[in-house]
Amino acid sequence: MLPPIDLDRYPLHLPESTACKALVAQCKADLARDGMFNLEGFMLPEAIARTVAETSPRLNARQAFTHARRHNIYFKPMPDLPAGHPALKEVETRNYTLCADQCEGTPVDDIYSWQPLADFLACTMDHDALYPMPDPLARFNVMGYPEGWGLNWHFDRSQFTTTLLLQAPLEGGEFIYRSELRTDDDPNYDGVAKLLNGDDPEVKSFRAEAGTLNVFKGKNTAHRVAPVIGQVPRIVTVFTYYDRPGVMFTKEERMGFYGREA
Ligand SMILES: [Fe+2]
Repeated sequence: MLPPIDLDRYPLHLPESTACKALVAQCKADLARDGMFNLEGFMLPEAIARTVAETSPRLNARQAFTHARRHNIYFKPMPDLPAGHPALKEVETRNYTLCADQCEGTPVDDIYSWQPLADFLACTMDHDALYPMPDPLARFNVMGYPEGWGLNWHFDRSQFTTTLLLQAPLEGGEFIYRSELRTDDDPNYDGVAKLLNGDDPEVKSFRAEAGTLNVFKGKNTAHRVAPVIGQVPRIVTVFTYYDRPGVMFTKEERMGFYGREA
């Protein structure tokens, strides 16, 4: 069965078609120019509504994991920087996280698990292949950001991140980023300090509509999601793919990300 994707607009089920090849070429060009691509209206509206109806009642302190932490932009200690260095400024991130085992059978599960989506993403990024994870917790997550909560400045650990926006807030919740603030060879600590001090004129932002699939290269591009304003939470799902099949989180990773091992 085909997943609830707008396949007329994004014919991922026909990878050899001219239309799909043109889409891959467009995504590659966007990635090269902007470090990301956005596919608006990717998920069908009824499926979005059903997923929000099933997940939003559980995005609360009792049923979801409250991910709340103070962190630096690296999400880790930096032994080569002196304590108190302005590039190590602490910021706060807060969201409600539902693991994949709490969202089984929802339309986002059907989209995540559909191998042609992973194949398409692999083509856009010149990977030989990408695979959904079998990990019952980490495969995909649904995150909720109520009023005042956001995702603060960080660099990603992975080469790219795939998200699908399920609900946009009334205000706030913009995706804010600073392209190529560092490189694999140059950590640019002075530039990081300037950014954290609110002193970087190269910062850009955009707002997405519900249903938009975003692929973003965030390893060297600092980024954050602004705190939500108003009574409508931002709800987003994060898809995790690897270039080999069968990848599982360790117990330590599960504890750190979700507060439970199984
Ligand atoms: Fe990120």
